[in-house]
This record gives sequence, C-alpha cells and structure tokens, in this order.
Amino acid sequence: MSDAFVARSLEEVRFWSRIMKEHSLFLKLGFRCEDTQLINEANQFYAIFEAIENRANAFTMGTDPHVIKKFNEEVHNAVSYIWAFKRKVLGLILRCQLPGANNFPLLVDHVSREANYFRNRLSELNKGTLEPLPDAIIDENVFFLRIMADHAKFISHLLDPSERKLVEQANHFSQEFDQLLFQAKDLESMRPQSQTVPLLDQFLDQNRVSVKSLRDFKKTARDLIEACKIKSIIHPLLADHVFREAEHFLIIIDMFENSLTGKPVQVRFDH
Ligand SMILES: [Fe+2]
Ligand SMILES: [Fe+2]
Repeated sequence: MSDAFVARSLEEVRFWSRIMKEHSLFLKLGFRCEDTQLINEANQFYAIFEAIENRANAFTMGTDPHVIKKFNEEVHNAVSYIWAFKRKVLGLILRCQLPGANNFPLLVDHVSREANYFRNRLSELNKGTLEPLPDAIIDENVFFLRIMADHAKFISHLLDPSERKLVEQANHFSQEFDQLLFQAKDLESMRPQSQTVPLLDQFLDQNRVSVKSLRDFKKTARDLIEACKIKSIIHPLLADHVFREAEHFLIIIDMFENSLTGKPVQVRFDH
C-alpha cells in the first residue's frame, strides 16, 4: 500500500460521501409528509454520510494506509446500506405504494447505481486490483454517459413546462448522450479488437466535447436557479450536484487521456 492508495481513497470518499449525503436529502424531499419512517431513514443516512465526509476531510496524505483501508471498509458497509434503502424505495414506488410522492423511479434507480459504483471503487481500492486501462476507459464511460443522459432527462422533467427553450435544450442533451452511450456500448461489444489507442483516444475526445457542453449548461441552469431567474422544481443543491458529477467525469476523462497518451497532467482553468 502506498501514497497513491491514500490519495485515491481520500479523493473518492470525499467526493462520493458528499454525493451520498445529498441523495439522502433529495430522497427525503420527495417523500410524502406521512412517510415518517422513510423520512427518518433518510435523515439517518444523511447523518452517517456527513460524519464519513468529515472524517475523510480530517485525514491527510500522512495518514497510515492501514487506517485508510479500515475506513474504506466501514464506508463500503454504509454504502451497501444506502444502496439497499434506495432499492427498497424503488420497489415501493414501482408497486404504487407511495402514490403522490415526488421521486421519479429513474432518479431512484440512478442514485442506487451511483452507490453501487462507489461501493465497487472502494472494493477495487482495497483489493488493489485496478482494471486494465483499455477496459476501464470503456466501462467508466458507459457508466458515466448513462449518468449524464439521465441528468439531462431529470432537468428536462423538473423544469417548469413553460420554460420551453430550456426544456428543448435539456431534451437535446438527453438525445446526444443516449447516442454517445450507444456508441460506447458498440465499442464495448467490439472489444478487445476495438481497444486500439487511436480509437480509444478519439472516443475520449468526442465524449469530452459533449460533457463540457453539458457541464456548461448545468452551470448556467444552476446559476439561474440560485438567482431565482427560472421556473422549476429543481432544488438549487440538485442543480449543483449534477454539475459536480459532470466535473468529476471530465477529470476522469482527462486522467484516462493522460494515461493513454503519456501527456503531462494539465492544470485546468476553464471553469
Ligand atoms: Fe448523484
Ligand atoms: Fe447523478
């Protein structure tokens, strides 16, 4: 175990524990006031992930890797519980047992996929078994392109229908990312023959262009929502949350690009 293990672990846990904490809040806001048991469960998860986030922020690069490994196991356990909670809520919604609640089934499935992703990252870090680069490039892009396509759909459906121009833009992003996801799936089924440096490089370049433009759209939406300049039922924190997830995907794309081409890591000033 090395410095890289501590650095990667802290980065992942700091980013995703905040995300899990916010999911608890969004789920809570979508429950009906009589669903007090579900609201209590969501509040408990909020407190658990807030505590994990604080602990992750208190660790430093000098922390003993064994302490971090133990911490990752604890976080993995908490993430398993929130994943099960999200799947339980999805089951209730799909069986029409929460009529009138305001969480879309796709949103609940989406946040459970993010929990599952976080859980896998923690297992990989602790086992020290990273996927080979060409597989990681395809798998991570398949995962995140679907996440981005979902975000565009959530934005489109949570904007007020009278915001016709913005709804149209969100729908356009939804189609664009569905198409990119299919292209990624095509590359996936063509592997290992598709895993050449030029094809993977072009794949990353093409995805980066679209993610940057979606990231900018989300930033604009977030600023407009915060300033109360547009009509929607999007919580300002949800707007910021999906913006941060796009930023995170861009960092991953750049990291892959650098590993693939051996380019030096660039400091990004474009946001
Ligand atoms: Fe999320
Ligand atoms: Fe998301």
